[in-house]
Amino acid sequence: MVKIFVEGPMHDDGLALLEARQDIEFSIKSDLTTDDLKAGIQSADALILRLSPLTADVIETAETLKVVSRYGVGYDHVDVDAMTRKNIPLAIVGDALSASVAEHTLLLMLGVTRQIALMDRSTRNGNYDVRYKQPGQEMLGKSVLIMGLGKIGIQVAIRCAAFGMNIITSGRKASQEVAKQRGYEFASDFRDALPRADFVSLHLPARADGTPLLGADEFAAMKPGAYVINTARGSLIDEEALYTALTEGTLRGAGLDVTQDEPPAQDCPLLKLENILFTPHNSALTEETGARVSEVCVRNVLAGLDGTLDSANVVNGETL
Ligand code: GLV
Repeated sequence: MVKIFVEGPMHDDGLALLEARQDIEFSIKSDLTTDDLKAGIQSADALILRLSPLTADVIETAETLKVVSRYGVGYDHVDVDAMTRKNIPLAIVGDALSASVAEHTLLLMLGVTRQIALMDRSTRNGNYDVRYKQPGQEMLGKSVLIMGLGKIGIQVAIRCAAFGMNIITSGRKASQEVAKQRGYEFASDFRDALPRADFVSLHLPARADGTPLLGADEFAAMKPGAYVINTARGSLIDEEALYTALTEGTLRGAGLDVTQDEPPAQDCPLLKLENILFTPHNSALTEETGARVSEVCVRNVLAGLDGTLDSANVVNGETL
């Protein structure tokens, strides 16, 4: 029997695919500690991983592991080098959640510009006059800097273009060609575009050393009244600098699906600010992606065990 250890929960569609295979047995456990993960992969041939850290010392203990399949696309919590050293491929789910994250990005942009949380609360509390006191802004004609023109960034750009926005992109060198094909401006250095962007939206992985990409200097360079949207990773933003920029600086607001600590500590100063719209790292958690992600993730793990893994879904292709 081939053994798969699954970090749960697992969507019913993925479960059905696992159950259909007579030659495998699997166990599912949620809210994993490091010890749970070590114990779970001790004699497992494959691992399905959500967001638990998969560190080098855990990977070193995995004697039988042949493939790890991420239930998502990000992998900053995985020591990929340690996996490569042990010749274990890491698979991700490709485009399966791009539409949901892109839609959520637009939700945060619209929600923060239209102060949707305040408007909802005020309507419920009988404060109808709020509509005259706190006007929102349009997206039409505004510029958005999309940092990272990968699968999600492209979907965000398409949706922003539909709102009549001016698209500026930045990212890896390879993205320049994508931007050109799609007719988007590309800034080789994103800092050059900061003073012109009404919205800055992050769609790139965390940096390997965990340092932020947007800090005090970047916020100071932004256009007065700009908004920052983050559906990528909390570590990309220096939260102290963001707090200062939103309270004393010129930033108008932020939409954050991700934060440095998740969930943020209850005394996190950002939670006190009305000009931030928060969501609980759920941009990808729609019914549709639940089904799609679980299916691609399980297909990846089975393909990894069968030796038929598609290299397009593998982060460390040299292990194939
Ligand atoms: C979610 O944040 C993911 O990386 O899949």
